[in-house]
Amino acid sequence: MEATTYNYKVVRQFAIMTVVWGIVGMLVGVILSAQLIWPTLTEHLGPLAPYLSYGRIRPLHTNAVIFAFGGSALFAASLFAVQRTCQARLLSDGLAGFVFWGWQLIIVLAAVSLPMGFTSGKEYAELEWPIDILIAVVWVAYAVLFFGTIIKRKTQHIYVANWFFGAYIVTIAVLHITNSMEFPITLTKSYSAYAGVQDAMVQWWYGHNAVGFFLTTAFLGMMYYFIPKQAGRPIYSYRLSIVHFWALNFIYMWAGPHHLLYTALPDWAQSLGMLFSLMLIAPSWGGMINGIMTLSGAWHKLRTDPILKFMVTALSFYGMSTFEGPMLSVKTVNALSHYTEWTIGHVHSGALGWVAMISIGSMYYLIPRLFGREEMYSVKWINTHFWVSTIGVVLYIAALWIAGVAEGLMWRATNADGTLTYSFVQSVEAMYPFYYIRLLGGLMFFAGMLLMAWNVWKTVASGKAVDNAPIPQAVQA
Ligand code: HEM
Ligand code: HEM
Repeated sequence: MEATTYNYKVVRQFAIMTVVWGIVGMLVGVILSAQLIWPTLTEHLGPLAPYLSYGRIRPLHTNAVIFAFGGSALFAASLFAVQRTCQARLLSDGLAGFVFWGWQLIIVLAAVSLPMGFTSGKEYAELEWPIDILIAVVWVAYAVLFFGTIIKRKTQHIYVANWFFGAYIVTIAVLHITNSMEFPITLTKSYSAYAGVQDAMVQWWYGHNAVGFFLTTAFLGMMYYFIPKQAGRPIYSYRLSIVHFWALNFIYMWAGPHHLLYTALPDWAQSLGMLFSLMLIAPSWGGMINGIMTLSGAWHKLRTDPILKFMVTALSFYGMSTFEGPMLSVKTVNALSHYTEWTIGHVHSGALGWVAMISIGSMYYLIPRLFGREEMYSVKWINTHFWVSTIGVVLYIAALWIAGVAEGLMWRATNADGTLTYSFVQSVEAMYPFYYIRLLGGLMFFAGMLLMAWNVWKTVASGKAVDNAPIPQAVQA
């Protein structure tokens, strides 16, 4: 029998976990920021100390914020948008449950294995081989669920948000499986199947496209669904969205070598990476403009609607980080920026400014609808959240821009006789004021998440889970 209601349960589960993992991942980020100021901070915690050392919790932070927080937001958004825009219930409730619990299990395994020191040593792909296999299985289940729902759709065309989600699902599968080819030695240790510079290239082809598809393409899918919804306006240009889609996905694939400038990678490959990175500015800004211009005729809503403020500010940060990225790929600029705090500033202008803010805005749209309420418990708190997090990101990234440029210039400064003007320790010392500002910015962003959690709690407590949202019936011709 054909389903008459949408599956909101899995969306609800992922939406709540977005907030939970956001808090956990950002708390670890705050601890890291503090450890950079007080390196012995966690050394006095007795038997716990090794598990909280910087080297172990840094990958815990990146995995938690990208895959647990960002991932949960993307599962919630894509599984909601695909049902609504296809006017069809998810392919299978059982499969949806499997994807949710499978992903949570992966997160828990990561949270245990990384602090214990088990790592394959590849950034953003640290998890060891048994977990890698589990990721592949859950991801394929997600693909079947998503594309299966598209196949059984009642609408004629496939809405653009689904194109973006679809590209991300397919690409992440290919990236993850290729980069995780490894020889297991024991249950907790494996070695990469690739060697030398090939290993580095495969890793950064993966690493860059994890940014390109996980942290960008997928969140653009989120933008294409939730911004028109919240603004109550159609997308500014459907044609631009199609050009945006193909140009972005084609160009992103080739830009990975910009992570390996001045390495043993052949020079032509480095220049190719730089060239494609420069070209990336066009589709990135095309997409940003398409999102922002969707507000044409609804600009006044920005004055009173904090959810829209989150979304539009996210797009502004997206524009900023995709201007900064191509600039960092220019070899002469990278010679200054690489290894410095500037990279970390760039990362967080994308990660906090774009990824976290578009996710937060979308969850504020979604959560009341999943719990049968008109809006969140307190709109005023959303507004407060918006301001603390915006000021937090600005403090974070502005501090690290200054820190990074200063650090790079100090490293290369020489005296008339050719000796170095500054010792390395002097450059570390010069970072302290900026580390304090970053900690403050991070704490503000984290505090905003706590406020969100409280608001979500009150919304859920005063609402009722919606399980009977009706699917519009097809009009008979
Ligand atoms: C047009 C778009 C972009 C380009 C061309 C670009 C380019 C770059 C470059 C050149 C680096 C520095 C590589 C190095 O010196 O090691 C970098 C680092 C990074 N970028 Fe971007 N970026 C873009 C957008 C973004 C966005 C939107 C995000 C996040 C949402 C992001 C996340 C990162 C991360 C996580 C790293 C650090 C990688 C690492 O070394 O661990 N980028 N990017
Ligand atoms: C309260 C918020 C946050 C704070 C205080 C914070 C803090 C930090 C710190 C201290 C580092 C290590 C920097 C270093 O080793 O020099 C880091 C790395 C990183 N963080 Fe965050 N973070 C936060 C939120 C996020 C979010 C939401 C994301 C992604 C969605 C993210 C993605 C990353 C990535 C990708 C790196 C590695 C960068 C690289 O290797 O180049 N962070 N973060």
